[in-house]
Amino acid sequence: MSAAESILEANLVEVRFSSEKPLFGQAVVVQAVSGVSLKIRRGETFAIVGESGCGKSTLARLLTRLIRPTGGSVRYEGRDLGLLSAKEARAIRRDLQFIFQDPYASLNPRMTVGALIEEPLRVHKIGSKAERRAKVAALLARVGLPAQAASRYPHEFSGGQRQRIGIARALASGPKLVVGDEPVSALDVSIQAQVVNLLADLKEEFGLTLIVIAHDLAVIRHMADRVAVMYLGEIVELAPASRLFAAPRHPYTEALVQAIPLPDPAARRAQVRVEGELPNPIAPPSGCKFHPRCPFAIPLCSQERPVLSRPDAEGRQVACHRAGELTLTGLATAETARSPAAARRFELYREARAEQAARSSRPAQPD
Ligand SMILES: Nc1ncnc2c1ncn2[C@@H]1O[C@H](COP(=O)(O)OP(=O)(O)OP(=O)(O)O)[C@@H](O)[C@H]1O
Ligand code: SF4
Ligand SMILES: [Mg+2]
Repeated sequence: MSAAESILEANLVEVRFSSEKPLFGQAVVVQAVSGVSLKIRRGETFAIVGESGCGKSTLARLLTRLIRPTGGSVRYEGRDLGLLSAKEARAIRRDLQFIFQDPYASLNPRMTVGALIEEPLRVHKIGSKAERRAKVAALLARVGLPAQAASRYPHEFSGGQRQRIGIARALASGPKLVVGDEPVSALDVSIQAQVVNLLADLKEEFGLTLIVIAHDLAVIRHMADRVAVMYLGEIVELAPASRLFAAPRHPYTEALVQAIPLPDPAARRAQVRVEGELPNPIAPPSGCKFHPRCPFAIPLCSQERPVLSRPDAEGRQVACHRAGELTLTGLATAETARSPAAARRFELYREARAEQAARSSRPAQPD
């Protein structure tokens, strides 16, 4: 991948959190992200998946400079984010925006919606007052909210509408890259459809690069171009979404994929079961961190840490000693990649789109 194709690059980044309260006289250290290297391509939707606590949010936050890595470096458009002047850092904050899981918690309840969306424009000194007002009105319309919303407060809106406000705020400064950290998981299923749909449309319209974190692999399957699977702070597989779901190479990916419910509950898959909980990140297992839960583990797995392979011809990378010899099944067809809930969700997209097209001269009626 050339420098022009990649917008953001992480090189062996690490994040360690030290707890303030020592345990038996020793500081407790959590290695939330461990030696991660990846390149995000300009214009793609890149997904990060994995169990709760595996480091997805920490990785996303350090990619967008909300936190600093304790090791390694992140480069945005070739510039090391750790070596920026204050002026450069401000300019880059315009380019990198975040959409949070809980829009209510991330929106100041004492500010009107208009002021919340205008704030990034004021902070970055974009436009005159009149131009900023016009921009707020245009953003509200674009995310499907009425103009009067500008003078109301976040608590007056539903969850889906608040996420639309969060999206408008994230788009206000004209970012190039937007991270959605579980952007729809707090919303009702029918509303998730509208918001995912909106994000996909806005990505195309504004030429954005999107990084999406989601627990719901069916949503990821639908949205993502490439997927990184994380386990205890490390990327264990990275691949184009279609290949990752159809033919996973890492046993952990296989287990995640197999856990997506089939539309027909009577249908059965060859299950690769992952037993037990995610190990304690304070004392991760030796060798391959997945070995205590892996049905394919051999003695080498507990002794030697497998490194993420270089990308193959399909752009696939995997960190498993046995990647070349295991035959994992994945999902047989595109249909089985979707749970009944997700299938219904995408039916709703189509209905909403058809309806919108039919009455394109009238304003949309969001949730
Ligand atoms: N500020 C912090 N201080 C100490 N430990 C932290 C902090 N933030 C995260 N951690 C720890 O780092 C690890 C990774 O957390 P992170 O929030 O990145 O996981 P996640 O994959 O986003 O989880 P979830 O799916 O639940 O959001 C966890 O063990 C978490 O407890
Ligand atoms: S390295 Fe070993 S334990 Fe780890 S995923 Fe591969 S087979 Fe399983
Ligand atoms: Mg998280």
